[in-house]
Amino acid sequence: MEFKETIKKYQEIVNNELKKYIITKDCPERLLNESMAYSLMAGGKRLRPILTIQTYLLFKKDYEKCFPYIVAIEMIHNFSLIHDDLPGIDNDDFRHGKPTNHKKFNEATAILAGDGLLNKAYMIISQDLAKTKDPRELDLKIRAFGELARAIDRLIAGEHVDTEYEGKEISSEYLEYIHKNKTGEFLKASMLIGAILADANEEQIKNLSKYADIVGLTFQIRDDILSEIGNPNILGKPVGNDKEKGKCTYVTKYGLEKAQIILEELTNEAIDLAQKYNNGEFFKEFAIYIKNREK
Ligand code: IPE
Ligand code: IPE
Ligand code: MG
Ligand code: MG
Repeated sequence: MEFKETIKKYQEIVNNELKKYIITKDCPERLLNESMAYSLMAGGKRLRPILTIQTYLLFKKDYEKCFPYIVAIEMIHNFSLIHDDLPGIDNDDFRHGKPTNHKKFNEATAILAGDGLLNKAYMIISQDLAKTKDPRELDLKIRAFGELARAIDRLIAGEHVDTEYEGKEISSEYLEYIHKNKTGEFLKASMLIGAILADANEEQIKNLSKYADIVGLTFQIRDDILSEIGNPNILGKPVGNDKEKGKCTYVTKYGLEKAQIILEELTNEAIDLAQKYNNGEFFKEFAIYIKNREK
C-alpha cells in the first residue's frame, strides 16, 4: 500500500476508535464534553496513534490490542494542544483552521477540557489493565503505561521551559532540550508503546528509540520552519507567531537555510536507521513525510 493510503486508512481507524468515547448525553457538564469532542475531532493528523500501530505491526498483526493506548495518546495530544494555545502559554486563536478551544468556548472550559482529556486517557488505560488477565500481557501494558506517563512528564517540562525562555536568547543545547522534551519524547513514546505491547526485545526497543529521537526532533524543526514559511490556509494555524512571541526556534537560532540543512541531515540519519528494520518501509517514508509536510 502507498504511504499516503496507509496514513489515510489508519487515520480512519483512529477516528472510529475516538468516536466511541465521545459523550453527547445531556448533563450539567454537557459543554465540557462538547469542548473535549470539539478539539479531539477538529482534524488532527493522528500521527502518534499511527506510529503506535505501525510499530506494533513491525512485530505482530493483531494491532487492535493497541486501541485503548492509541485513544489515550490522541486524547493526551489534544490536551497538550488545547493548553499550548491558551493565553497563558502561546495565546493562539486558530488550530486546524478553526478557533482554538478557549476562543470557541472560554478559558475555563478549555483548561478543564485539557485536564479532562488527560485524565480520561489514564482512565481508559486503567480500565484496560483491569480487564487483562494474562500476566505477561498485563506486565507489558503496565510498562507501556509507564512509558506514556514518563513522556507526558517530559512534555509538560518542555512546555514549561519553552514558555520560561520566551523572548530570551538560549544556547543550542537548551533549544534542543525544549524540542526533545515538548515534542520528541511523546512521539518516541508513541512508537515505544507499540513496540512494548508487541513484546519487542530490548535491542529492538533501543533501535526504535534512536530513530524516534531523531524524528521527534525533525518533527519540531519542521514545525518551526512551517511557523515561518508555511501556508496558514493549509497549516490551519497561524504563521509568523513564533517570531512575534520571541520564541527561540531552529529558524530564529540558525536561520531558515541552516534549519533546513539540519532537517535534511537528521532525516537522512533516520532513513538509514529505518532501512535496518525488517519491513521498515513505512518508517523510511514517514521520516521523508515529516521533512516535507505542509501541515
Ligand atoms: C502539533 O502536532 C504540535 C507539535 C508537537 C508541533 P501535530 O502537527 O501532530 O498535531 P495535529 O496533527 O494537528 O493533531
Ligand atoms: C507544541 O509546540 C508542543 C506541544 C503542544 C506539547 P508548539 O507550540 O511549537 O506547536 P504549535 O505550533 O502550537 O502546534
Ligand atoms: Mg508552544
Ligand atoms: Mg503553540
